[in-house]
Amino acid sequence: MQKDILIDSNTVSAPKKATVVVLVNENRKTTFEVEKMVGKALIERIVSVRGFKGKKLEVVDEVCDGKKGFDRLVLLGIGNTEQLDGDDWIKIGGAAFASLKDTDSADIYLTVAGEKLKDENILDFVLGLRLRNYSFDDYKTVSKTKDSHTKAMKLVLQLEDAKAGEALIERANSLADSVLLARDLVNQPANILGTKEFVKEVEKLEKIGVKVEILDEKDMKKLGMGALLGVARGSKRPPYLAVMQWQGGKAKDRPLAFVGKGVVFDSGGISLKSGAGMEGMKGDMGGAAAVTGLLKAVASRKAKANVVGVIGLVENMPDANAQRPGDIVTSMSGQTIEVINTDAEGRLVLSDALFYTKERFKPAIMVDLATLTGAIMVALGTEYAGLFSNQDELAGRLVNAGHKTGEKLWRMPLSETYDKIVDSKVADMRNSCGRHAGSITAAQFLQRFVGETAWAHLDIAGTAMEAPLNEYNQSWASGFGVRLLDRLISDNYEA
Ligand code: BES
Ligand code: MN
Ligand code: ZN
Repeated sequence: MQKDILIDSNTVSAPKKATVVVLVNENRKTTFEVEKMVGKALIERIVSVRGFKGKKLEVVDEVCDGKKGFDRLVLLGIGNTEQLDGDDWIKIGGAAFASLKDTDSADIYLTVAGEKLKDENILDFVLGLRLRNYSFDDYKTVSKTKDSHTKAMKLVLQLEDAKAGEALIERANSLADSVLLARDLVNQPANILGTKEFVKEVEKLEKIGVKVEILDEKDMKKLGMGALLGVARGSKRPPYLAVMQWQGGKAKDRPLAFVGKGVVFDSGGISLKSGAGMEGMKGDMGGAAAVTGLLKAVASRKAKANVVGVIGLVENMPDANAQRPGDIVTSMSGQTIEVINTDAEGRLVLSDALFYTKERFKPAIMVDLATLTGAIMVALGTEYAGLFSNQDELAGRLVNAGHKTGEKLWRMPLSETYDKIVDSKVADMRNSCGRHAGSITAAQFLQRFVGETAWAHLDIAGTAMEAPLNEYNQSWASGFGVRLLDRLISDNYEA
């Protein structure tokens, strides 16, 4: 549930809204216009009385006499603007939104003394406002009606250039909507969001020009997707492979492909997980959610690139019909897999999804996202997602996009010696190979299905859900990957 939030832009003029927000850098000088409109003396008084330093994300919130048309003034510190980096401006936007609790209208002066804000900074600020305005309370029957944050809000950005502001606000809004779609999908419980329901959400993207195809069990049987189908056997929910296409580039350009793990619930199957924390496995489709959000993002802004999204949707459940440890399945690639542990299901789903994507689309790059291993959290915690790649250029571009969006990636190794560990005694490979280097052996498994394609695998088990809350995410699901990959595309693949 989000409170309706309408964001407008205006060329700097006198405030009309109940609350005024002013950015203050560490020099504690505001622009001439702001001093005139809001009152230099008032700002200086707050600075001296409250000891406000203008440090990054420092906030003071003061009640005023209302004589100038507003009765509340928020000073928001932004520190040394030259040092602002990564997702700092998103955090500033998030902090601004948080400071507006209990108000329904505000003028926000997005101006800094002696500097011109970059478009990128304004876009990030709006993104921060929007992303902070999200909490998942669909199923709260009582508290949400009491929450002041469900009131509608009208924010006006006071900018040097209102016209340019409008376009930036529109772009930020569509990106925010895409991130929030991913968060919603991950937050929804598995009794509500099964494979069919996920497909319905994907089909909604047709309205904005995304071509959607749904492969069902019969289609996948014909293609020989024994690895993916083996996972689905224990569930009443039918498996699907959803294929989304955005054709914004030249017809002959090879597409950029994104592949997502979409396990709507991961009980572990016959190799049942222990009870503690199992409820979190409703989010085991975080990779698929990010890919869906990404397709929404690129279509909404009519990106000049051909983008393909492929997600494998299954539920991993124990049942009389479920696959067992020791079973051997044949993947679409023809390679056979010994199922050592039915809880290592993500790589089974991805092996067929990756192979299908590479064969059908011959993509220029292929990036998969998956809440794949607990081991990635042992290695990196919740701060960085694991990045594995067979191509330095793609890996470098991903790391850069991660830095700029705050969706940070840390590159992990792949090698022939790690690859050997994946060999099975009775089949071509096994899906589980012991505790050592668990996220690396999972990545090595995936690499056996990508051929020569420039490929990267993002293990987002630590970042897609239950990551630490911050200025712009207060929800269990973060929507990790949508902003990262949208940025990867806009920085590198759009002429
Ligand atoms: N979905 C899990 C990984 C996971 C764990 C994601 C915790 C988010 C939070 C995955 O399917 C899984 O169960 N992986 C096993 C693999 C093992 C059996 C080789 C794991 O990490 O323990
Ligand atoms: Mn599992
Ligand atoms: Zn899983």
